[in-house]
Amino acid sequence: MFDSPLNCSILKRARDKGLAEIHVHNLRDYTTNKHRKVDDYPFGGEAGMVMSVQPIDACISALKAERDYDEVIFMTPDGERFDQPMANSLSLLGNIIILCGHYKGIDYRVREHFITREISIGDYVLTGGELPALCVTDAIVRLIPGVIGDEQSALSDSFQDRLLAPPVYTRPADYKGWRVPDILLSGHDAKIAEWRYEQSLERTRRLRPDLLE
Ligand code: ADE
Repeated sequence: MFDSPLNCSILKRARDKGLAEIHVHNLRDYTTNKHRKVDDYPFGGEAGMVMSVQPIDACISALKAERDYDEVIFMTPDGERFDQPMANSLSLLGNIIILCGHYKGIDYRVREHFITREISIGDYVLTGGELPALCVTDAIVRLIPGVIGDEQSALSDSFQDRLLAPPVYTRPADYKGWRVPDILLSGHDAKIAEWRYEQSLERTRRLRPDLLE
C-alpha cells in the first residue's frame, strides 16, 4: 500500500535527495505470538477485532530506542482535522511516527500511553489509516525546502494564504477558440500579479467562503 506512493514523484525525489527519510514498519514483525497476529477479540463483546497493544508497544519502543521523536501521531477519523497550517508546523519537526490503525479497532491504552497527537483527514471513514498517513506525509514532505524545484511553488499553493489558487494556463494561447485571458499575455508583471490576486479572492468567495471568515 505504501510502496508506490512513496516511490513516485515528489516523495521519491525528496527521498532520493536525502531531504526526507521515510521508513514503513510492519507491526507483524513486532509480534510475540506464533501466528504473528496483531489483533484480538474485544473485551465486552462488541463486533469486530481490536488491534493489540503489544506489537505497537514493541514497534514504538524499538524506534524510540534509536532516536528521539517530536510526535507520535495516530491517524483516526475522530482526531483533529488536518489542514495546511498543521502541515506547515509538522514539516518543521525532525522525527515523527505515524501510526495507522483501524477505525474502532485499536486498544485504547495505545492512545493513552503512546500517542501525542491524533489527526483526521476529514469527516469520512476509510478502511485504515494508511491512505490518511500517506496524505499527511505528502503534504508535509513537499514543504521541506529543496523538495519542490521552484521554492515559490509550495508557498503559492491553494490554502497557503487561506486563498484558493488562481487559474493557470499553458500554450497554446488559443485552443479551438478557447482563449487564455489577455492579461496573462501582456507581459505586465504588476498587472498580472493583481489579476491573480483578484482571481484568488473571487474563487475563494465563490467556492470556499468559510476560508475568508
Ligand atoms: N482512518 C480511517 N478514516 C480516517 C480518516 N478520515 N482520517 C484519519 N484516519 C482515518
